[in-house]
Amino acid sequence: MSNSYECILTEVVGTGERKTGLIRLNRPKQLNALNDMLMDELGQALLAFDADEGIGCIVLTGSERAFAAGADIPTMAPHNFMSAFKSGLISKNWETILRVRKPVIGAVAGFALGGGCELAMMCDFLIAADSAKFGQPEIKLGIIPGAGGTQRLPRAVGKSKAMDMLLTARMMDATEAERAGLVSRVVPADQLMTEALAAAEAINGFSAPSTMLIKELVNLSFQGALSDGVAVERRYFHALFGSEDQREGMGAFLEKRAPKFQHR
Ligand code: CAA
Repeated sequence: MSNSYECILTEVVGTGERKTGLIRLNRPKQLNALNDMLMDELGQALLAFDADEGIGCIVLTGSERAFAAGADIPTMAPHNFMSAFKSGLISKNWETILRVRKPVIGAVAGFALGGGCELAMMCDFLIAADSAKFGQPEIKLGIIPGAGGTQRLPRAVGKSKAMDMLLTARMMDATEAERAGLVSRVVPADQLMTEALAAAEAINGFSAPSTMLIKELVNLSFQGALSDGVAVERRYFHALFGSEDQREGMGAFLEKRAPKFQHR
């Protein structure tokens, strides 16, 4: 895979006329925690594959241990409301993936937590390894999801399961995720990439306008209030950087201790 980026690896794979653009998140020491550089690079790679006539489909994956363990907590922790709002925290580079017109398959092994779960949910469909674990644990940090978790998770798994996951921070394993409709298939971990690349190869063989239109129209069926909901979510996500509990939640994570929330 190519190393022209620092936080991701990219590769063109396949045997047919049109190929697959493979992107691997690559911050292994931080379990692929999503920082600014990674999100900038991911956006660049996605748009480059989208613009490449020789590419029919994109596969986005992480490592065996983690698709992504969420937004990068050490770089988020010092924010206050004004810095989060003014710098466009999340807003400025997390949603490039939604501008991609070709299908994007998420291949998820290990942890897909917080922003990692939200990034996975921005893919067009998900193939999970049996090791995959999904969750929105932001509440443990004294915040809430900021990249669509409160809006996309209920659409994917229904209200009750979404509330359960968002309010208790519990993780969902791959079997439960498939049963709930969050992922389209579960495969043994050692077959994840074979399965995802085979799905991509099948898509590559179909008419590009058909694949692009199917994507556009299925996504349209989920719109309406979604963008409004995500915008409102972002405002409150920023606002929580003005709370004492955000300081405590992220501080406790960084100091490797249990948080003591004061509910203010
Ligand atoms: N940001 C930065 N670093 C992270 C990270 C994150 N989100 N998640 C894990 N890491 C780092 C750890 O700090 C640790 O680094 P060190 O070795 O330097 O201490 C390394 O990755 C390995 O993690 P653990 O030792 O904790 O591994 P584990 O197997 O015991 O636990 C885990 C794995 C359950 C994923 C745990 O690391 C964890 O709970 N991570 C935080 C998950 C989280 O809260 N995600 C949400 C972030 S907020 C967000 O995403 C907001 C949003 O909506 C956009």
